[in-house]
Amino acid sequence: RVPGPRKSNLLGFEPVPVSRADTAVVPEGYRVQVLLPWGEPISGDYPAFGQHNSGADQATQMGSHHDGMHFFPLAGSSSEGLLVLNHEYAEPRLMHAAAAGVALASYDVPLKVDGSRDPGQVLKEMNAHGVSVVRIRRGENGHWELVRDALNRRITGLTPMAFSGPLRGDPRLQTRFSPEGTLGRGTLNNCSHGVTPWGTYLACEENWRYYFVHEGSDVPASLSRYGVGPMNAWRWHLAAANAGTEADIYARFDATPRANSPHQDYRNEPHGFGWVVELDPFNPASVPVKRTHLGRFAHEGVVFAPAQEGKPVVLYSGDDSVFEYIYKFVSTRPYHPASADGSLLDDGTLYAARFNEDGTGEWRALAPGVNGLTADKGFATLADILLNTRGAADVAGATPMDRPEWGAIDPGTGHVYFTLTKNTRRTEQQAGGPNPRAGNHAGQIVRWREAGDDHAAMGFTWELFLLGGDTETGRDLQGRALTDANLLSNPDGLWFDADRRLWIQTDISDLELNQGPYQPMGNNMMLAADPDSGEVRRFFTGPAGAEITGCVTTPDQTTIFINIQHPGGSTTAKDFARGKLDSHWPQGGSAVPRSATVVITRIDGGKIGA
Ligand code: FEO
Ligand code: CA
Ligand code: CA
Ligand code: CA
Repeated sequence: RVPGPRKSNLLGFEPVPVSRADTAVVPEGYRVQVLLPWGEPISGDYPAFGQHNSGADQATQMGSHHDGMHFFPLAGSSSEGLLVLNHEYAEPRLMHAAAAGVALASYDVPLKVDGSRDPGQVLKEMNAHGVSVVRIRRGENGHWELVRDALNRRITGLTPMAFSGPLRGDPRLQTRFSPEGTLGRGTLNNCSHGVTPWGTYLACEENWRYYFVHEGSDVPASLSRYGVGPMNAWRWHLAAANAGTEADIYARFDATPRANSPHQDYRNEPHGFGWVVELDPFNPASVPVKRTHLGRFAHEGVVFAPAQEGKPVVLYSGDDSVFEYIYKFVSTRPYHPASADGSLLDDGTLYAARFNEDGTGEWRALAPGVNGLTADKGFATLADILLNTRGAADVAGATPMDRPEWGAIDPGTGHVYFTLTKNTRRTEQQAGGPNPRAGNHAGQIVRWREAGDDHAAMGFTWELFLLGGDTETGRDLQGRALTDANLLSNPDGLWFDADRRLWIQTDISDLELNQGPYQPMGNNMMLAADPDSGEVRRFFTGPAGAEITGCVTTPDQTTIFINIQHPGGSTTAKDFARGKLDSHWPQGGSAVPRSATVVITRIDGGKIGA
């Protein structure tokens, strides 16, 4: 490492200041355009957006809470392609006209007077989740626009999916819907994503546990280790009583054993979530596939090492909960570009990361008979391990982290970067290594280099790239205090562009924005970093109450797409009841705030960030 300040050649823009305004701010010489907000019609009969939209309408419109995203160019084009993006969740109080005037927080769901839920509302929420595939193009005026195209597709909490890998057909995946245990219904809480070397999209299932309830006293480890219990946030199962012949699609979220077998109740439904889902955006009829060998946890996202002919495929994935782990998968079969497909993800070894205090680390295999994974601990088979991946990694001695979010790989050096967004529950005794701070409210970024620069290696060396915080507590790679130009908190989204700019996006919780230690940071933001000098510079600030997430450029790097998630999410229940919202972005006036994609270009047409 080169000591002392070094000026970056990668960052060619003037930093933007911290902002508390309800708008998107970019550096001088740049411009922004809003594209594909929640509710924008993309398929079917193209029903216009409005709060009155039905659940069926929502299934043909953009979902809400835009998150991980990729641009798949059409024939290499930088002006036309498929934008594929996740819809992590939804904000029920904004979706249902009936919620107006009621004191609801951003995570509350409206209940009927008898305590049940309205099936129409729940259907709309279910269809606001999932993934959108949308054809877009750059028009003559430089503005990007939706193309009404047969490739456009919504994948929702109801879309049929197949299971592949070691859990396919396992008795614990057998349900009323799929007595053979080969199919599931829908994908939920898709946070970040991945892009395979063979050109498909991976949507990752993060906080799926909040949709399920288990009221029994005997909760299996495959549920309890993930926090599934008597309480859930979404309470979709409470719509079943009002849903007549459609009750099944709601009742499946109650995993309490109520009959004699999993073919008669819904005890196994939560086993169908927590996976990585592969889909082919260029084949709208394709059935998405849940790849069970990549493990079951709160998958934030997946990042692939650059694929090399004749070498295994390697990917990394974080489990975003406090004290959870970072994982790596190494395929058994080698990569060959002509034949590579998703079946490479069905056969391999899953590892969990152990970080040592001395800056070294090792990968602990999660496989039967190794690292303490034995039948007496509940891990007789690979299926046992993958179904309760967290429990297996506990036994194998992985290092509990400060909420691993996105990973990114430096295209020049192969170094692997991960954001660790926060962990206020870490104690002084538990602080150390890549998680050095107790009561960690600001988060950090760790990076490592695999032994011999081989991503399939069993060891690595790590260092901290950035400590989030204000000008007192934040530090860059070279130990310099953060400044007004780059102070940040809660790094989450992370992406390398082809020139090796590291884009960092923040997710200070909507409930904590501008309060306590988060006061100096203002709204959430995106910054760019030089991985060699460690210099970081603020590039973008978002509207009020929103998280910034999702990041990709066109191949020529003249357009960058990012997502604004949950603008106005900071609105208190009291303010909501009074009709006072923190944000009306993007439409302004008195409009309902809507998650949306933001397109950023340079007025001179140059490369973003340069
Ligand atoms: Fe959905 Fe971990 O952020
Ligand atoms: Ca995230
Ligand atoms: Ca986050
Ligand atoms: Ca989020």
